[in-house]
Amino acid sequence: MSGFFITFEGPDGCGKSTQLRFLAEYLEEFGINVVRTREPGGSLVAEKIRAILLDRENEEMDAMTEALLYAAARAEHVRKVIKPALSEGKVVLCDRFLHSSLAYQGYGRRLGLPLVRKINEPAVDGCLPDVTVFIRVPPDRAFSRMNEHKVHDRLESEGLGFHRRVFEGFMALSREPGMIVIDASGTKYETQDIIRQRLTPILKDKGIL
Ligand code: TYD
Repeated sequence: MSGFFITFEGPDGCGKSTQLRFLAEYLEEFGINVVRTREPGGSLVAEKIRAILLDRENEEMDAMTEALLYAAARAEHVRKVIKPALSEGKVVLCDRFLHSSLAYQGYGRRLGLPLVRKINEPAVDGCLPDVTVFIRVPPDRAFSRMNEHKVHDRLESEGLGFHRRVFEGFMALSREPGMIVIDASGTKYETQDIIRQRLTPILKDKGIL
């Protein structure tokens, strides 16, 4: 039996981690076996790579190094956590995945989609999300929400111009198959209701719900 792979994407400060948690709790109420994980990270070695990526001391990091490190962390995470869970029939909920690299490194760092896709091909090794939930929050709003946090990591410290390009990238990617765009202009509970409404028919169709 193969499981079901759902990723959550969106700009920094869009609230996707909270939405992922709410959805996991909801699915668990039905007795569904859920694995919650995140990128960059999710496994021992990938979490170590995460620390390098987000460390503000590494401000000088080249964009190519950054893209390769995100892909390296992903290669580890896919092989150690995601694939094994899916092959056990679990529902995997992942906070960020491939689309973040396409948006942040492809658009934000201007490396371009073809190159970032190419780097990530061996990393994902055919393991692509069944569904991607894209939490749409306009970049200016997400940016000001993010600035309410006290400590910023390396990527969060980038300016509004960078975050606008990332958003533009997500919007372009949201037209791809398997993408569910969720408008997050309401409360976090309203947003969760919309996510459940959109996912329920898909999960029922797969015999999961
Ligand atoms: P994350 O832990 O999701 O941060 P937050 O919870 O604050 O949104 O992600 C850390 C940062 O890494 C975030 O700014 C987005 C960035 N990122 C990339 O640039 N490329 C990637 O492939 C991934 C997975 C994340």
